[in-house]
Formats: sequence, structure tokens, C-alpha cells
Amino acid sequence: METILVKGPIFMKVRGECEILGVKFKNTFIVYKNNKYLPIEKSTDAIITLKKGKNYFNLEKNSKYGQDQIGTNIWEDIIECILNSNRKRIIIIGPSDTGKSTLTLFIANKLLNKRLSPLIIDSDIGQGELSPPTCIGSTILSKQTIDLASVNPHYVSFIGDIQPVGYESRIINCIKNSYDKLHKNNNITIVNTDGFVNNNENNYKIDLIKKIDPDCIICMRENDQTIDLFDSIREEFSGNLNIKIIQGQAPHKEIRKTSYDRRVKRLIKYSNLLKTFTKKVFISKHKIIAIYYQNSFLLSKRNTETEKINGIEPEDTIFKDLLNDRDFVRNRFVGLSLKEDYEKIIGFGILKEFNKGFFLMQSSINRFDNIFLSDIKLYNNSTRLFK
Ligand SMILES: Nc1ncnc2c1ncn2[C@@H]1O[C@H](COP(=O)(O)OP(=O)(O)O)[C@@H](O)[C@H]1O
Ligand SMILES: [Mg+2]
Repeated sequence: METILVKGPIFMKVRGECEILGVKFKNTFIVYKNNKYLPIEKSTDAIITLKKGKNYFNLEKNSKYGQDQIGTNIWEDIIECILNSNRKRIIIIGPSDTGKSTLTLFIANKLLNKRLSPLIIDSDIGQGELSPPTCIGSTILSKQTIDLASVNPHYVSFIGDIQPVGYESRIINCIKNSYDKLHKNNNITIVNTDGFVNNNENNYKIDLIKKIDPDCIICMRENDQTIDLFDSIREEFSGNLNIKIIQGQAPHKEIRKTSYDRRVKRLIKYSNLLKTFTKKVFISKHKIIAIYYQNSFLLSKRNTETEKINGIEPEDTIFKDLLNDRDFVRNRFVGLSLKEDYEKIIGFGILKEFNKGFFLMQSSINRFDNIFLSDIKLYNNSTRLFK
């Protein structure tokens, strides 16, 4: 077996057999739309042909990276541990680009191979695969895939920003809520986290671990990296015999997303989403039960008595003023939910105006009870986009 690396998006032809992130392919075509690197593990006689424009060329092994620095073989011990010791709740923690998302998918594919059912909670609000940025997407994966971004989420929660700072407890609660809503007894849950591992003093990952109560914590890092948070995790949890703490090896450090890649990725997510905003909605504020912004909910006065949302205290916050600020409102990215489960985002949109008590927005749905305001602005007509 040899591992070769390609960067998406690509279209390729496989002659012979190969395996990608735990998925086997034989004499077939593969379309990969994501802009990430993909490790292809193939037998020496298999031939992978890439199509670039009108040209085809054979993919050769790149000797720049050692075979022990790329591919899924660097995670063999992790898979063995998970499958052999029957782990039920796995959490993956580590800096950006240490392979958290790739490992998440690899584990899920391996579980599917064994007819086990993986529940993936993708809580990286900046670079999540399962939902647009600012959200947490979760899914019970039913079919192997090499691109999680092509999978529909079963539950989406709204945070509102692409960085976790200031949203820590909401993120923890949303992860737990997604777990409670989707989890069934036969699931093996994998929680993927964001790359914020600094600020060790009060990093919310420790609280997250306590809330999720995992039986396996995978700490991803490059071999020579020291990460204080991991020492704290060890200190806090290594005495608990039910929790297995595993060190996960990051792929070669040159295989990283540049900040440009990250922006492009968000851009692709949002521009795909914008295409779904086919509805022009004009809705009175009296039809809206709750409005969320930066951790708080504002409940409509009319509805507080009759349709009180469980667990939300009505708050008289400043965002009444915000809504009357045209610049604040215009082009703001929003999530939409129904009162039956106010935390479950079922559509998205962009606010255009709030005028005389009416919202004007472009959105993917026209029936909703609650509006979640984000810190992101989207501009329909440009690729210049946001922060
Ligand atoms: N085992 C691996 N072999 C080769 N490339 C990998 C491997 N794991 C991850 N990558 C690539 O490295 C980059 C960062 O990985 P990713 O899973 O997105 O990291 P994270 O989720 O920690 O930010 C991506 O381009 C990914 O495709
Ligand atoms: Mg990731």
C-alpha cells in the first residue's frame, strides 16, 4: 500500500482498488468537491488518473511527505482502540489543521464498516462541514462518504459567530442538546471541536468534556507540539478509569489550510446557501415569538404569556434598539426555527430591513416562529463577503 495526496476539488478515475478515509473504491470515478487534501491509499498496481480541464494525468506518489506522516495509517491504533474496547462517546480536541475533521470522518466510516451507527456532532463553528459557519451541525451518518460537507445534517444549532469566544456555555449546551435529540442507544457519538486550544486557564473544553461525559478523548497534535490544555485534560480526567485518553498524530504540518483556504471554504458554504434563499418574506414582529442575538433571547411580549418557551427567560435587551438600526439589520445572516423546537434551525436567510414592525428578508423558508441573528453579514452580489 502507498499513500498519495491530492487536493480537492478534483475529479478522478480509479483503475484497480484504493481506499480513502476508510471507504473502498474499485474501478470507478470519484468526484470530490471539498478544497481539502485527500489521502488516497492504493496498492502499487492501482492507477489513479486525475482530470484537470481536458487533460488527464496519472497521480504519482509525492515523496515530500513520509508515509508515516500522511494517510489514515497514522491513526490505526486509534481505530483499534475504539473498535476493540467498545467506546460510545468520543471527543476530538486539538488545534486547527491537526486532522480532527478528517479523523472524525475516518472513524465514522470505519464504524459503518462494522455496521455500527455513528452520530457526528460537528461543533467547529468556524470550519464545520455539516452546517454553515456560525452553526453546529449533527448527523447520524447512514452511508460511508469521503466528504462530510455533502451530507445533510439532522440537527442544526445556531451560535452566531465563527469564533467560540463569548459563546462557550451556549456551545456546550447546544452540543448536549444535539446529543440528547439525536442519540439512540446503538449510536457511537463523535464530537468534533473547534481549534481553540489556547487560553488554557479557562478553556471551555474541560467543561464540555464534563458535560458530554465521553469514554474516549482524542488529543490531536504534532509530535513536537506542547499544548497546555492537554496537560490539564490529563490532570483532570486521567484518574477516571472509564475515560481513555489517546494521543492522535496530526498529519504533516505542511498540509494545512491557509487562512485563504479557510475563507474560501466559508465562502463556498455561504454561496451555496444563498442559492436556497428563494423566498422573499415580509413578516410582522408580532408573528415572531423569539429573537436570538449573542446568547440572549428576546421574547415577544404578546407571546410571553401564551407561548412561553421552556427555559428562556424573557429579557429586555438592547436589541430592540439594534433592530431599529438600519445598518445593523441590513444583510445580516440569520437562522430560523419553529416553536416546536426553538433550538432546531430549519432554515436560513438574510435580513434586508426592519421597518414599522415588519421584517423583510430573503430566506429558504417562509414559515418560522423564531429568528436567530448572527454576527455575519452576507452580500448577495459579491464574493467580497464578511469578516
Ligand atoms: N491523515 C491525513 N493524511 C493526509 N492529509 C490529511 C490527514 N488528515 C488531515 N489531512 C488534511 O489536512 C488538512 C487539515 O485537516 P482537517 O481534518 O481539516 O483538520 P482540523 O479539522 O483539525 O482543522 C486538510 O486539508 C485535510 O484534508
Ligand atoms: Mg475541522
